[in-house]
Amino acid sequence: MFKVLTLNNISVNGLERLPRDLYEVASEIANPDAILVRSADMHKMNIPATVKAIGRAGAGTNNIPVAAMSKRGVPVFNAPGANANAVKELVLAAMLMAARNIPQALDFVRKLDGDDKAMHEAVEAGKKKFVGFELPGRTLGVIGLGAIGVKVANAALELGMTVYGYDPAMTVQNAWQLNAGVRQALSVDDLMSKSQFVTVHVPLLDATRHLINADRIRLMKKQGIVLNFAREGIVDETAVIEALNDGHLHAYACDFPANTLKGHPRVIATPHLGASTIEAEDNCAIMVADQLREFLEYGNVRNS
Ligand code: MLT
Repeated sequence: MFKVLTLNNISVNGLERLPRDLYEVASEIANPDAILVRSADMHKMNIPATVKAIGRAGAGTNNIPVAAMSKRGVPVFNAPGANANAVKELVLAAMLMAARNIPQALDFVRKLDGDDKAMHEAVEAGKKKFVGFELPGRTLGVIGLGAIGVKVANAALELGMTVYGYDPAMTVQNAWQLNAGVRQALSVDDLMSKSQFVTVHVPLLDATRHLINADRIRLMKKQGIVLNFAREGIVDETAVIEALNDGHLHAYACDFPANTLKGHPRVIATPHLGASTIEAEDNCAIMVADQLREFLEYGNVRNS
């Protein structure tokens, strides 16, 4: 029997890939052979010496001490691309919400109180107050053309946007997926200066911390919208708040409710919902459970 410790709720459809006659799966288990994790921070955890493999039901592995595990010969499996559609949909939703001032309009409507006449007057006032803009003809810059970035770029193109991408390390597989209509920027600065919308789809590394900083935000077209549905820290949020306050940026959308941003009316922040769909949770769990199984039973290391 292989023992698998789960540190977060993992989709049942994923867990079913580990047959009960061979696997014991539980959130508390002694001497586990493997760990299945979603977002629990494993950096301070005492990872038992019996652990032979770790599966992360998601794309990023920054909650896992990967280098330390490598030294121990413990592979860390992840699920690149398995939640890409879910993240793409949330990014598109945020772009549309920002362009049409939806969060502010919802807030306005929630606070309305009065008779039919007052409501009618409020509708007229709201129509004037929340005039937005449309996406066709606007330019989106996509930094990072991995599984998610490629999907976002292709979808924005279908919405009629002009799209620039930048990724010096794009894989051949992702290059094949990218619509030929997506133009290539020469550098991050080149992309920033061409774009009104900028979205980042890169991991958080030393090289990408504050990749979007005050100088780069100033390169963007006026009424800019910055989107970070990748990792907190890639965008310098203090610089974002300054640019929102002086009107250079129209909105900032991100998937992390950071304290710096709290309460700003033109910030759209979600609690790391990018991969939180039924489909993405199933896809990620299935992909890592299959990899764990192949490793534990056959010793194969498959890079999905
Ligand atoms: C990812 O890295 O793919 C996401 O963080 C997944 C998640 O939300 O758990």
